[in-house]
Amino acid sequence: MPLYSQIRQDLLERINKGELKPGDFIPSEQEISSRLSVSRMTARQALKSLCSLGIAYSVRGKGTFVSGMKFAKNVRKVQSFTDEMKSLGHKPSSRVLKVEDVPAPPEVASNLSLGPGELIFHLRRLRLADSVPMGIEDAYLLLRPYPELHASYEPQSSLYDFLWERYGLRIILADETIEAGLSSHEESRLLRIPKRSPVFVFTRVSYIRAHQAVEYVKSTYRGDRYKIVNQLRRVDLDAP
Ligand code: GLP
Repeated sequence: MPLYSQIRQDLLERINKGELKPGDFIPSEQEISSRLSVSRMTARQALKSLCSLGIAYSVRGKGTFVSGMKFAKNVRKVQSFTDEMKSLGHKPSSRVLKVEDVPAPPEVASNLSLGPGELIFHLRRLRLADSVPMGIEDAYLLLRPYPELHASYEPQSSLYDFLWERYGLRIILADETIEAGLSSHEESRLLRIPKRSPVFVFTRVSYIRAHQAVEYVKSTYRGDRYKIVNQLRRVDLDAP
């Protein structure tokens, strides 16, 4: 086995055993070469091949990180980020980037049938699983029926739990579009991924009952941490 594959194998075992977790630093080229007395080139090759397997990724000027497994995103279920992460056995958390009441941007106003210039509650959060950044969510919520939303909602907590506990509202339906995209400079920085990395862009309108939309959300999720899982069914078998 070439030397670089042995080093890669050793790193893989540490990742599989959980000694190195998603988001952790992988020893640098320099550390590997001095600890194992191998050339920098060999160390670089080992790290490069881990990256090409999708098990690690490197960020210029920062180092190489463990990327971990992909989460299966069930796109047929209405679920909050908090519930989704808990059901997968991970600890959800949020870093709040913005909480504000703003005039609804045109795209939001048209999806939520708002009048021109009507104020809306805007919440921008970095969503994390076990402290690993997973996505950025920009949620816009109707303020008209819930004017004290801004004052009473604690933005670190689950938005959907709050809507339920405070107003007895449950999101039961959502129209969602999923597109492929490339992370912007800011998204790459927040998500700790290389610039222009593949991402999933979700646009969602959530309803508390048919035709009653309350939320518009634009989310950017890491392409290296998610995969879309769906169940498909033939629809023509019941046809006469
Ligand atoms: C999911 C949805 C978002 C929603 C969020 C609420 O991520 N895609 O539309 O705003 O959950 O999450 P939480 O209740 O954890 O704040």
